[in-house]
Amino acid sequence: MEKRLALYFLFVFCLWQGCAEISDTKYLKLAHGLDATHPVHRGMEYMAERLAEKSEGKLQIEIYPAQQLGTQRQALELLQIGSLAMTKASGAVMESFSPKIKVLSLPYIFKGRDHGYRVQDSEVGKDLLLESEKFWLRGLGYFDAGQRSFYTKDKPVESPKDLEGLKIRVQESVTAMDLVRSLGAAPTPISYGELYTALQQGVVDGAENNPPSFYTSRHYEICKYYSLNEHTAVPDILVIGTVAWNRLTPQEQIWLQEAADEAIAFQRKLWVEAEQEALDAVQAAGVTILRPDKSTFMEMTKGLLEEYKDDQEMFEVIQKIQAID
Ligand code: GCU
Repeated sequence: MEKRLALYFLFVFCLWQGCAEISDTKYLKLAHGLDATHPVHRGMEYMAERLAEKSEGKLQIEIYPAQQLGTQRQALELLQIGSLAMTKASGAVMESFSPKIKVLSLPYIFKGRDHGYRVQDSEVGKDLLLESEKFWLRGLGYFDAGQRSFYTKDKPVESPKDLEGLKIRVQESVTAMDLVRSLGAAPTPISYGELYTALQQGVVDGAENNPPSFYTSRHYEICKYYSLNEHTAVPDILVIGTVAWNRLTPQEQIWLQEAADEAIAFQRKLWVEAEQEALDAVQAAGVTILRPDKSTFMEMTKGLLEEYKDDQEMFEVIQKIQAID
């Protein structure tokens, strides 16, 4: 009997030890839809390394790429209920969770790459990240996602006229749908992970994205025309659920924010190289790259910005963005 009691205590002791060891390290699960070779994923890997270093291994990020845990929208919903800690969502998809973020998806709103960075680093950029806290989502920062342009299977897009009647995949975003419609094409929302097959089967005639995404998704195997009209420059947003954020100690929150900031600086450098590499690679694989005159695209899409003239809140954000040099 005594022996059995001793064994029982030993068992309880081991269990307690095991739990103590496990609870010594906190894991944050981060899921997203991009490929593991994508520069945004590499930015996240860097963040995970930096966080592990800062916390001496006590706070770690586990990354699940390639839509393993669901689409962008599904991941955000998991964050809201606390079943998943982190994700990256395109600013385009965030707009249905936090309406003001729409400004990031407006056509030709940024004057260039550096202007985009200055907006992201400004008060307006920071406010937009925290705007979504009302919806249980806290933005930690922006990853560069370059400029989005059209790619098509059979028909080169030299001007908006060539888009007429084409079915174009867009993200789950009303602004993206309006934009594609304003250019005469028919927008079809499809998740990133399902797009390869949708293109292959002719569900859509084309899509729009930045060069690294066009390349790492292998959509270039099907779409042989890439037309660099650069209609939007929607950044990616690194998001943590408010539930997961509140589970961290103040020190852990500081480490995580610092690791995110460092990863953002690292990823911006990486992006520029990745963009060139992607363009070279798709061209070598037989894709024709077109550089159309952007003015007709600008002209036809400018109504999207004008729509907000009577929306005081949105109008103010647009003006603040435009006022940044
Ligand atoms: C880009 C963007 C992603 C987005 C993807 C898409 O890669 O950076 O956030 O998921 O496009 O079109 O779905």
